[in-house]
Amino acid sequence: MIKTIEWTESGVVMLDQRLLPAEEIYHTYVDHLEVAEAIRTMVIRGAPAIGIAAAMGVALGVKKCPAESLSGLDAAFERICSDIRATRPTAVNLFWAVERMKSVYGQARAQGIPAVRSALIRESIAMHAEDVAANRMIGRWGQDLVPGKAQILTHCNAGALATAGYGTALGVVRAAVEAGKEIHVFADETRPFLQGARLTAWELQKDGIPVTVITDNMAGHFLHKGEIDCVIVGADRIAANGDVANKIGTYSVAVLAKENGIPFYVAAPISTLDLSLPDGSHIPIEERDPEEVRSMKGITLTPVDTQVANPAFDVTPSRYVSAIITERGIARAPFDVSLKEMAKK
Ligand code: MRU
Repeated sequence: MIKTIEWTESGVVMLDQRLLPAEEIYHTYVDHLEVAEAIRTMVIRGAPAIGIAAAMGVALGVKKCPAESLSGLDAAFERICSDIRATRPTAVNLFWAVERMKSVYGQARAQGIPAVRSALIRESIAMHAEDVAANRMIGRWGQDLVPGKAQILTHCNAGALATAGYGTALGVVRAAVEAGKEIHVFADETRPFLQGARLTAWELQKDGIPVTVITDNMAGHFLHKGEIDCVIVGADRIAANGDVANKIGTYSVAVLAKENGIPFYVAAPISTLDLSLPDGSHIPIEERDPEEVRSMKGITLTPVDTQVANPAFDVTPSRYVSAIITERGIARAPFDVSLKEMAKK
């Protein structure tokens, strides 16, 4: 199994996803600022994986904190949490994870500093295991939606690399393959960071699942030709009305899918729901460094200093979403009702 992130005695170990597929290199991050930087620079990425990294970062920060009094630790804990929160704004799993760590901190505090330290470490490890279990359930529910022989289009990477393991959208693919279905994945390359070309293709190849990489502007062609049976993507944040923030380009794929009568499924754990937001217009969209668009691996692609826009995510209105697959089951329109029910279970 692909190891994306792991808690160890010496620090948080992460596979450097910036280097894939050329190099498979693991680094050990020894304090919470290093973990924060790893999230910001996309050593680790993908909403659920960011959440686990955030939790482990907080646990590491408290483990390394020299405070000898509880009030000293309280102040340091606030700083650690805000350093982690300041890394990436869109994936709600990051904020969900920090809130969960805050509540564990509050519960363990009365038992003293060593108890707080071990409770936070235990919690972050538990979140890792829960995420893999959630993905397996997403896979089980989702694979029912997939025909026995299917060509599935996906965008970005919502696989083992984007989670603690197994994946959300690719979890559905894996579960369908495990159920004996004949699956071929079409992976959008996903400019500018190339999560599809570099990461989705890498992990599917490793599992022996057939995959064809296409450039983002080819998706409409294949959808129109009837070569795609369904689209399955992940999500970074889902608002109460079912609007979905996911990797930039997802919206275009969703519109093209609807235009061509092809189901568009979103696979995401409950930790990706943000029911405090009425709709997608409230979801903060991260704007990344223009250099990611201007150049690739040191090769300049645009005239020097060309003005560039680089929003990392877009919002797909829920009317384009056929179903949202969670670990608790499949939500369908009206999403304001079905997601609320799902979150309560
Ligand atoms: O910028 P990234 O690589 O973190 O964006 C990742 C995505 O948009 C994924 O589709 C999403 O986080 C779901 S991952 C299971």
